[in-house]
Amino acid sequence: MAREKAVAIVGATGAVGREFLSVIDKLDFPVKNIRLLASARSAGSRVPFRGENLVVEELTEKSFQGIDIALYSAGSSITKKYAHATNEAGAVIVDNSSAYRMTDGVPLVIPEINPEDAKSHTGIIANPNCSTIIMLMAVYPVMQKFPVKRIIASTYQAASGAGWAAMEELKNSTRAVLSGEDFTPELMPYPYGFNLFSHNTDIDESGYSEEERKMIRESKKILHNEKIKISATCIRVPILRAHSEAINIEFSGERPSVAECRELISAFPGVQLIDDREQNHFPMPIEASENYNCLVGRIRHDVSNDSAVELFVAGDQLLKGAALNAVQIAALL
Ligand code: A2P
Repeated sequence: MAREKAVAIVGATGAVGREFLSVIDKLDFPVKNIRLLASARSAGSRVPFRGENLVVEELTEKSFQGIDIALYSAGSSITKKYAHATNEAGAVIVDNSSAYRMTDGVPLVIPEINPEDAKSHTGIIANPNCSTIIMLMAVYPVMQKFPVKRIIASTYQAASGAGWAAMEELKNSTRAVLSGEDFTPELMPYPYGFNLFSHNTDIDESGYSEEERKMIRESKKILHNEKIKISATCIRVPILRAHSEAINIEFSGERPSVAECRELISAFPGVQLIDDREQNHFPMPIEASENYNCLVGRIRHDVSNDSAVELFVAGDQLLKGAALNAVQIAALL
């Protein structure tokens, strides 16, 4: 029997933080007790969990006494500020931010793909970027058998990746358009309702956004493959919580048949094949939302390249893209 763990959730009132509790409950993760941590603004608020009302506490350096596992989702600066105190108190961090993802010695883990890496942690395990996880969940089942040379991904990203406030801004922006009112965005760079725009992260001199660069470098680390070529275009679309991605996969040798792709994807844990050409039923964010599986379909041979396959994936950004993957990592511990 698994030993029960004392768990702290840092950023418990945020979009991902709220999902940690429901995933812990649904996966029946063995918890001894849970401490909810957020800013002073939220201290004292109550969150129901398994018939109890848990009280949110203010995050301080002393918050981690007696804690075994700290699930962090409060942004990179908070992780960097409290990581040392957390490890000093004896707790292992599973961090949803990008703070330590590319740090040598910090494993970057998708449990269905590289669970072994988690074993070598020295106090911090990083949860990959949501778009990276969702892309690799679709590509890896096929890659395992058919080596890949190049991946090109185009994303359709939900508001949840920018947090709870961004989801609210999408709703308010949409309401404003429907009622013919002006709307001034506060968090997103542009009005979000009935619009889409390039991912709201910095563009560097290469012309790639930080989100695109994360997908490239994190995938190489997870796959232990620096040679694989990856390019991405990341776009925010007015969807609340599921990311979708169109992916072109170029193989090193012969490409798999569509039937082989379907078979490999169907057999892989955490993914679900939705590939019904007759009904024109393919992965959609509405069916991926609150779903623990990433949905994969639209599988077809690329007519412009004899070595490539096209497919489409939709996955819940807050679940497999964040809280679910993090709790699965914690379960590996
Ligand atoms: P709070 O709700 O008290 O501001 P999201 O990713 O949805 O934006 O959520 C961010 C999470 O990080 C929230 O739980 C938020 O708490 C928490 N957070 C933000 N700043 C701090 C801080 N300085 N100390 C502790 N928690 C913080």
